[in-house]
Amino acid sequence: MKICITGGAGFIGSNIAERFLSEGHDVVVIDNLSLGFTENIPNGAKFYQTDINDDNLLQIFEEENFDVVCHYAAQMSVRHSVSIPSDDARTNIIGSLNVFESARKTGVKKIIFASSAGTVYGEQTEFPCSEEHQNSPVSPYGVSKYSVEKYLEYYKNVFNINYTVLRYTNVYGRKQNPFGEAGVIAIFFLKMLRNEETYITGDGSITRDYVYIDDVVEANVLALNPEMTGVFNVSTAIETPLLDIFDKLAKLTNYQRPKQFVPFKIGEQMRSVCSYNKIHNLTGWTPKIQLDEGLNLTLEYYLKKAQV
Ligand SMILES: NC(=O)c1ccc[n+]([C@@H]2O[C@H](COP(=O)([O-])OP(=O)(O)OC[C@H]3O[C@@H](n4cnc5c(N)ncnc54)[C@H](O)[C@@H]3O)[C@@H](O)[C@H]2O)c1
Repeated sequence: MKICITGGAGFIGSNIAERFLSEGHDVVVIDNLSLGFTENIPNGAKFYQTDINDDNLLQIFEEENFDVVCHYAAQMSVRHSVSIPSDDARTNIIGSLNVFESARKTGVKKIIFASSAGTVYGEQTEFPCSEEHQNSPVSPYGVSKYSVEKYLEYYKNVFNINYTVLRYTNVYGRKQNPFGEAGVIAIFFLKMLRNEETYITGDGSITRDYVYIDDVVEANVLALNPEMTGVFNVSTAIETPLLDIFDKLAKLTNYQRPKQFVPFKIGEQMRSVCSYNKIHNLTGWTPKIQLDEGLNLTLEYYLKKAQV
């Protein structure tokens, strides 16, 4: 298959690109490098340094004739979305529409979209929560992700473009940018390995569901199947407090500094943990890498890359 990965120079997109290439697919990456890196793009993938809002996006789609589009390019920061919601919408909604219109006009058969289980539900009332949980986002980023899901429903209803929405909880692992604003595990690792102050949001009791990159990649391979259509959580159903993450990483890196706390920010949720029954029942997918193993693998990667 010929597969386009928007955001393919970033953390998740580049890991997926690598796997698709190893499975014999043709991979084309579209990324403006605002957050991604050319060294992330695997050998064998064709690369266009282009913004998803660019007018020439359609031309690329016309030239390449993609079968599938994995749409991963996004404004990633919840905090930035709260500060400047229109900026978030420009990339995450308007940019997505430019991708989808280009896909529609060039006969793309399927779109796989990276949504966010940690933000589209808002404060949960069910733990872990299923895909049926109400959608009541508490950040513009969560609103934009949920809006894009609805646009995909429209493209399916009216133009019969197949889609899979993968709602990820907190993804972590190799190639995550430790200098970014999202990805607490990467950020904490960087600070701790450099022996810098590491700040814990609130009192550290906020919880997240941490899913390892290899399990996310596997879900994308399954999503290439035309029968896997609709919305799926990709998660572990295990809730881990931020303080536990701090303690685990401090132990792994021998970090001795005292804990420092910063106030809770608007847009952040208290608890996030999601069930994966739906994807499991359809495909057999389960998260295979447990948190401690995933943290060890991630630390190994950062030490090897000497990114710190
Ligand atoms: N990392 C997570 O925990 C997580 C959780 C849920 C959903 N997601 C979603 O998964 C996707 C990938 O996230 P990631 O963690 O790999 O982030 P990332 O920042 O590493 O990758 C995003 C990529 O998109 C590119 N990009 C941003 N704006 C662009 C634009 N206007 N045009 C072209 N390229 C652009 C960046 O340069 C970057 O390479 C995003 O859509 C994100 O919202 C991530």
